[in-house]
Amino acid sequence: MSTELSVRARATRLLLGLRRAPDPYAVYERLRVLGPVLPVPALSTVVLCGYDVCRHALRSPDFLVPDTRWRDEHTPGWRRHPSMEQYAASLLNVNPPEHQTLRGRSAALLTRSAVDGLRATVEELAEDCVARLVAAVARHGWADAAEQVALRLPTRAICALLDLPDEDAAELGAAMLRNQVVGELFPSEAELNEADQAVRELKAYFRALGERGHPGAWTRFSPGECGLLLQAGVSTTFALLGTALCALLKDNGALAADLAARPELIPGTVDGWLRDRPPSTMVSRVPRHDVELAGVPVAAHTHLLILIAAANRDPGAPGPLSFGHGPKYCLGAQLARMEAIALVRALLPHAGTWHLTDPTPSFTGYVIPQARTLKVTTRRPPAPRTPPGHDRVGRRTP
Ligand code: HEM
Repeated sequence: MSTELSVRARATRLLLGLRRAPDPYAVYERLRVLGPVLPVPALSTVVLCGYDVCRHALRSPDFLVPDTRWRDEHTPGWRRHPSMEQYAASLLNVNPPEHQTLRGRSAALLTRSAVDGLRATVEELAEDCVARLVAAVARHGWADAAEQVALRLPTRAICALLDLPDEDAAELGAAMLRNQVVGELFPSEAELNEADQAVRELKAYFRALGERGHPGAWTRFSPGECGLLLQAGVSTTFALLGTALCALLKDNGALAADLAARPELIPGTVDGWLRDRPPSTMVSRVPRHDVELAGVPVAAHTHLLILIAAANRDPGAPGPLSFGHGPKYCLGAQLARMEAIALVRALLPHAGTWHLTDPTPSFTGYVIPQARTLKVTTRRPPAPRTPPGHDRVGRRTP
């Protein structure tokens, strides 16, 4: 087999294996070392892993997002699913000139000063989520920090942003997880049916809220726009906060102890998680015209997968692409970082006494890999058993 064919075969195998991969980030790293631009004809896509090509495709007006027209031509049948229809019509998936109009509406809600104004609320919410976790652990001996903290905090933050009732956050967060599959590469029919149901329930929720005359920022947006802000703001931040929890609770809270001693290191630590384990691992684009990327010819309208998780690890990367780049740069980057920093601060006093029952949790999703369950307990996990004749790290003793 020629080298080019073998690279294609390996890239195809790696992409197809993502669904079952225990840690998708390891797969992205393996794709990265295969090359900056990887045509994968078997999956009708070209994968971009190099930092320069990824940044170029994110920034250049020659690259569009796959919009409804592109989907009609390339993925027949996609309109069967209301969840896909809503996702495809959302800000994330529209091109100029409609993009500017839709983006302007959400950007007005997420200005720097508006998000600064939310800081005290976000800090209170982080403290409250952690306090509830403390109470649940005290009551039951364990609690699920993924659900109660990593998912609940970003959902409550978006509820605060949109003036949605705080007590609805649990239900809204759960709906976001059911709907998230619309952004995955190979969703199954059953998963899409579940997402359709979540979208129907969400529409009914906003209709009922309107009928009750519930006031606030959410009334300035359509139910689809509110759904997109929830989706974009919850699923990604959920993943980031899960990474934070795993890092802080492992090794008997060693990192947390360091950060408690030097809290000025917290923002940089959050940025490190964002770089090494970016919650949004990939985004899609299509070139308007025939192009050449790192010497590889790519035909107009070909689907491109921009692998942020690979590009961030490119040795030549001057800075991460975790929040995207260019005209679609994330509108919630400031809020997401603020939530993560607030959570780390709220967790520090407890990190040494809490332990994860499974320190290497499995992930759901590979576009946005999330640890959906993170059981914490105050019981120290048993030390690994050392076989006779071995030391604590497993080396034979003389
Ligand atoms: C750690 C958390 C987050 C990460 C990693 C993240 C990542 C991203 C990325 C990579 C994009 C670019 C998509 C593209 O180029 O196609 C994006 C767009 C976007 N993000 Fe975030 N995001 C996060 C949190 C948030 C939050 C909290 C919000 C608030 C509601 C938000 C709202 C949006 C919106 C509205 C867009 C669409 C921008 C556009 O299409 O013009 N994100 N995000």
